[in-house]
Amino acid sequence: MVKIAFNSALAQKALVSEKDPETGSVYGSESSTGRCLLTLLGLAFILSGLIVGGACVYRYFTPKKLYHGSMQFTKLDSADVPMDVEAREPYYLPRIDEDVDIRDDVAIVNVPAPRFGEGDPAYILHDFKRKMTAYLDLTLRTCFVIPLNTSVVLPPQDLMDLFMQLMSGSYKSYLVHEDLVVTERVDDLGPLGYYIYNLCEGKATYKMQRRSEIIGIQKRSVEECFKIHHFENKFVTETRICRA
Ligand SMILES: *[C@@H]1O[C@H](CO)[C@@H](O)[C@H](O)[C@H]1NC(C)=O
Repeated sequence: MVKIAFNSALAQKALVSEKDPETGSVYGSESSTGRCLLTLLGLAFILSGLIVGGACVYRYFTPKKLYHGSMQFTKLDSADVPMDVEAREPYYLPRIDEDVDIRDDVAIVNVPAPRFGEGDPAYILHDFKRKMTAYLDLTLRTCFVIPLNTSVVLPPQDLMDLFMQLMSGSYKSYLVHEDLVVTERVDDLGPLGYYIYNLCEGKATYKMQRRSEIIGIQKRSVEECFKIHHFENKFVTETRICRA
């Protein structure tokens, strides 16, 4: 309403000035229109500045977007699923919940303590640039690092797509085992990159290897093992970490 009134007033003024080009009112009307436009332009400029500034503040000072997903899984390995799997399925399937923060070159997975069953709560960080994975076991307050396994961990864009898919309902999957062995302690976190440094700083940190890769390992009689259940693909991985 206000805008219309303003416009019609302006139109009337213009009409008047057209009829009578000699009077001083023409100049006055044009200059006030110009000032008005300038003011509007200034306001638009300030507004766009505020919007861009706001976006920057939002980008840098608020937590990154977290994706939440959950997966149910059958304890049976994919290899030895019997024919009557449907009949054998327990009433309640174990379920894994995860929050994940995905950026261009890093994904940080937050695995809470499972409500039922075993497994440690953990933060799992995949550094796609450095091709390293770090497990921060929150029960032990200890970090374990190993080269990123790209056949288990989806690249960032695919991981995002997976979580988008998980948001639309429950997902039934299967369990894959991963058997890792602690090898040596890491004293200098620097070479592991900025992200892993931030995650593991102040915690005891160890390197790991796949058990299958260790040639001629003597299986010690006393091994301290723990498990972390997580997913970064369409299946759930049970990571078993052992130190002798
Ligand atoms: C990645 O994980 C899969 C499944 O656990 C395993 O078969 C494969 O050997 C691993 N690859 C590497 C490079 O560690």
